Amino acid sequence: MPRLLLVSNRLPVTVKADPRGVTVTPSAGGLATGLSGPHRSSDGLWIGWPGDVSKLKPEQLARVNQELAELKTVPVQLSASEVARYYEGFSNGVLWPLFHYLLHRIPIDVHDWDSYRRVNQRFADAVIAQYREDDLIWVHDYQLTLVPGILRKALPRAKIGFFLHIPFPATDIFRILPWREEILDGMLGADLVGFHTYGYLRHFAKSIVRTLDASFSIDRVPYQGRTIRLGVFPMGIDVAAFEKLANDEDVIAQVTGMREQAKGQQIFLGVDRLDYTKGIQRRLLAMERLLEREPRLRGRVRLVQVAVPSREKVDAYASFRRELEETVGRINGAYGSVGQTPIHYLYRSFSQKQVTALYRAADVMLVTPLRDGMNLVAKEFVASRTDGDGVLVLSEFAGAFAELGEAITVNPHDLDGMVAAYKHALRMPEEERRSRMRTLRERIQRHDVHRWADSFIATLEHMPRAEPLGD
Ligand code: UDP
Ligand code: G6P
Repeated sequence: MPRLLLVSNRLPVTVKADPRGVTVTPSAGGLATGLSGPHRSSDGLWIGWPGDVSKLKPEQLARVNQELAELKTVPVQLSASEVARYYEGFSNGVLWPLFHYLLHRIPIDVHDWDSYRRVNQRFADAVIAQYREDDLIWVHDYQLTLVPGILRKALPRAKIGFFLHIPFPATDIFRILPWREEILDGMLGADLVGFHTYGYLRHFAKSIVRTLDASFSIDRVPYQGRTIRLGVFPMGIDVAAFEKLANDEDVIAQVTGMREQAKGQQIFLGVDRLDYTKGIQRRLLAMERLLEREPRLRGRVRLVQVAVPSREKVDAYASFRRELEETVGRINGAYGSVGQTPIHYLYRSFSQKQVTALYRAADVMLVTPLRDGMNLVAKEFVASRTDGDGVLVLSEFAGAFAELGEAITVNPHDLDGMVAAYKHALRMPEEERRSRMRTLRERIQRHDVHRWADSFIATLEHMPRAEPLGD
């Protein structure tokens, strides 16, 4: 197999420096956790941003660089201004809310396109510096949409794939973006453009017809003398790794501890980055309404909500956090007592092992995003339930919904519907829980992350090489 160059904004590990020292820890987020397995088993390199290393002393930086090299990663360092403008400003201030249909989260005036373009050029330069003939290049996600186009000009015959991990929005939303032509043209620099669902692919295809006046037929786009292929590749997870963790002695001991501590209460669980797309606020409001309407449930249910700190310097994230914490306080104030609180809010990140213990300890897993490209947490919950029990409540606006039809499905915009789903989950007979979980487990086992990566890479590998355009 040819060597694989993975390219993403965030590396699978993030370097953090504080007065106590420097740590290199696994990154949170589906892209990093999902691709780590395929990267470990390939002989390639992963090119990306390692987090803020600007404050490291030279000897610390040398140590970190050594560690990154051992992990087969190539760091692209970003200056403070690039982080503020390319990462926080354009990628997460504009593209992220737009692609998730949350237009009110976009600032009125945006100045960061030039920085986005320059940093995309820097990532492309880093790839070009590593590229050897016959390598496969696989670029990931919305932060780097221009990279395939830049690479195509510099390496006309290279095999380049691009995968979008977030939704591609409907044309009427996408065309709001003043830089819509450049973004589409950048993505079409790839030979193969992949999406999680057919819906996202269709939106993309319609946007290129409308914006670039290009055409497409089924899954092929003739563009600038090349033929680009579009494909649907729903991302899976490392099922075997989660099953192994779920049966680990320490994990089982943690699960027993959590269940004892819950003293017979039913445990609802949410595990998300603290992101306004994840529907955490509505999830809490539905819990509040449940407790308000069903006094007999007070003191008998708890919601453990993990909220991993994320993009804290982006205004929309900071204000969302305030809103959320106010809601947690209000619910706990109204329905808690000296001995118990209904919402256990944990603003921190957990290791995969700890997350697996939470999945196994839960009675009901709440995955209720307003919009989510895929949502791997839903699949990780299912993989961790080697005991065959547990109920998944899943939003119809998560990409994972297309594959996980046996979950209780909810529309997070319908609060009464959410309350009804919570009640349904609490009352579901064991036999039905087990039967639904069995089907869910079989499905995610068949479509794991290795199969996802292998099928994308095999499709890319077997595509004919682009022929450079003559003058
Ligand atoms: N995750 C983690 N630690 C935490 C919370 C989450 O490692 O404390 C991981 C989780 O296991 C999953 C990923 O972060 O692999 C989240 O991926 P998902 O696709 O659900 O959402 P994203 O964050 O990519 O939007
Ligand atoms: C989502 C995005 C990824 C991103 C992750 C974490 O999964 O699709 O590209 O890496 O969130 O966000 P962060 O901004 O911390 O990298």
